[in-house]
Amino acid sequence: MTDPAGRLLQIRGMSGDRVRKLLASARDASALRGDELAGVSVANLFFEDSTRTRVSFTLAAQRLGAHVVDVSGKGSSVSKGESIGDTARTIEAMGVGALVVRCAQSGGARVVGDAVSCAVLNAGDGRHEHPTQALIDALTLSRALGREAGFDLSGVRVAIVGDCAASRVARSNIACLTTLGAEAVCCGPPGMAPRGLEALGCRVSNDLDAVVGEVDAVMALRIQFERSSSIGSAREYRDRFGLTRERAQRMRRGAWVMHPGPMNRGLEIDGEVADGERSLVLRQVSAGPDVRAAALLSCVNACRQS
Ligand code: CP
Repeated sequence: MTDPAGRLLQIRGMSGDRVRKLLASARDASALRGDELAGVSVANLFFEDSTRTRVSFTLAAQRLGAHVVDVSGKGSSVSKGESIGDTARTIEAMGVGALVVRCAQSGGARVVGDAVSCAVLNAGDGRHEHPTQALIDALTLSRALGREAGFDLSGVRVAIVGDCAASRVARSNIACLTTLGAEAVCCGPPGMAPRGLEALGCRVSNDLDAVVGEVDAVMALRIQFERSSSIGSAREYRDRFGLTRERAQRMRRGAWVMHPGPMNRGLEIDGEVADGERSLVLRQVSAGPDVRAAALLSCVNACRQS
């Protein structure tokens, strides 16, 4: 399914041209004047907790001159049973020009997109997608590899490690990385990295030790206890799939460590790996406002022109 230009709901189905335009716009974000969204109100509809995504969408909107309002599940009429579609329509009727949606429901961002005609951006919906996170990851990795001129990641191999089946970050990254020419390898225990994921265009491995030395980046995923990721014994998980200091030492020269955050230090990633020389974790966070400014501007401009 291809999203209309005023929507950023998923990377899967997005053209390579649109992915590269968004990345180029984020790369060149320092050229923005600061009044591109003057007079526009952006509503953050966050029905699930967030630090990075919520703050960086807010900073991005403010940087473009927009006004930002925050709506959360607790304290809004969603807690009285109002549907997210009705909440979205209600907020749009007040003159809001863009809705940024995070929710636990897979496909919830599309429910909002179908309810309104203003810009809608998915800030992570259940197990479905987290498109701006994948754009952040692609921008950060392209910069680290010196590929940010054309965002051509051919020949690059990235291991995505953890509960890939339940991860919206994995789903968006598989789509984004493969669109840019990279190979994605989903790695985890069979319940978290089942063969069925190959239908998304990635490779699957249940043996991190066989993969860690052959990739250009390892992206550790957070174990999502709130989405009932069952890891059995934490010690056993870390032993087999944790990005430990010993495993990081077996990575290729020049290979990078990534994590979308928030991190469970000592479980999916060791603290000294997260903070080490190979780590792109804070560079990923720093790219957030640029990517989200590019995404907001693109979606609002498309709605203005339609
Ligand atoms: N990566 C990410 O979505 O982090 P937050 O949950 O803090 O927004």
